[in-house]
Amino acid sequence: MNPLFALDDAQCLALAETHGTPCFTYSAAVAAEQFKALRTALPSRVRLAYAVKANPHPSLLRRFAGLGASFDCASIGELARVEALGLPPGRTFFAGPGKREAELAKALAMGVRVQAEGWEDLARLDALATGEVAVNLRVHPAFDLDEGNRIIGGTGPSAFGVDEEDVAALLARASALRHVRIRGLHVFAASNQRDAAKLLAIHGAVLDLAQRLHGAHGLPLEQIDLGGGLGIPYAPEEAPLDLARFGQGLSDLLAAHPWFVGELILEPGRFLAGPCGVYLARVVRIKESRGVRFAILEGGINHLIRPLLTDQAFPVKAVGKGGSDVAYTLAGPLCTSLDRLGDVHLPELAPGDLLAFGSTGAYGFSEGMTHFLSHPVPPEVWVD
Ligand SMILES: Cc1ncc(COP(=O)(O)O)c(C=O)c1O
Repeated sequence: MNPLFALDDAQCLALAETHGTPCFTYSAAVAAEQFKALRTALPSRVRLAYAVKANPHPSLLRRFAGLGASFDCASIGELARVEALGLPPGRTFFAGPGKREAELAKALAMGVRVQAEGWEDLARLDALATGEVAVNLRVHPAFDLDEGNRIIGGTGPSAFGVDEEDVAALLARASALRHVRIRGLHVFAASNQRDAAKLLAIHGAVLDLAQRLHGAHGLPLEQIDLGGGLGIPYAPEEAPLDLARFGQGLSDLLAAHPWFVGELILEPGRFLAGPCGVYLARVVRIKESRGVRFAILEGGINHLIRPLLTDQAFPVKAVGKGGSDVAYTLAGPLCTSLDRLGDVHLPELAPGDLLAFGSTGAYGFSEGMTHFLSHPVPPEVWVD
């Protein structure tokens, strides 16, 4: 089985027949395997908190919860989805640069660990709380080891967290709070990173930063949250993340920081949810225009906006057809020239042919603009 496509051609054809197209399909087995493979590779002192934003489908959340996952939420809607799982306290986190009071109140009521992104989160929580509340402080570091990554945004100005150079002043101010206690750090400094050495270098730098803050301010750290950012392949030539090396590297980092006796948190979204998804759409028409051959599909950036945002195409295949000798620009049905899913080589296509886009389980449906142009919302189908 091609690891970029969680479902084979026969499954894709059958799903397209049964549920119609365009549609998002997912392999529950692949999602579970992905979770188990990462969990097995990690030291026991690493908590795995699935980033719900990647794919908040209740079936996926239930499956991950059953495998022992914790959850990283970033809105009141995500908190509600996780609340429905009925988890014990301690398994849910709440991040986000613009948390409203109602969201903080919900997080408090659920016993969720808040990643405070600045003074306002701390002060609002303090005003809402009636007893002691432990939070993590999100820090925007002065280092950037995932250079040029637009999602992380470099060392420049950021809407996320407290700038590293402002942490001392914030800790001093926070010491006067009645209920809120900073008991952890959160730093998210990588995105779609498949190189274990790079990820470990970033995480090592975060632990060094934590050690400096711990040393300088006597900050008792129960948790250090390393964020998400574990990468997956989107093309055959891209190697997957070496999980054994990554897990061993985290063990080594823990051993190198004996002062830290708490828990590391990882919040992968893409890594856990991406590989299980296959988006199915048929060709509506083929058009030649001034030397370019367009395959115009039933769905485009209304369903898969990622290629537009990141210039990174999803892998695609023509279901039931071999070969890759014709160059196509894949366009969607929207009335904008931005509606492109990639320049690809595929076999000769005809209207009605079924295309499958692999690794679309994360930041696919959840990130799409399904209401734009009022096309019907595509179904999401889980294969057990
Ligand atoms: C706070 C936080 N944690 C985790 C993630 C998940 O990142 P990824 O899907 O790259 O693992 C994100 C993504 O934006 C995030 O903002």
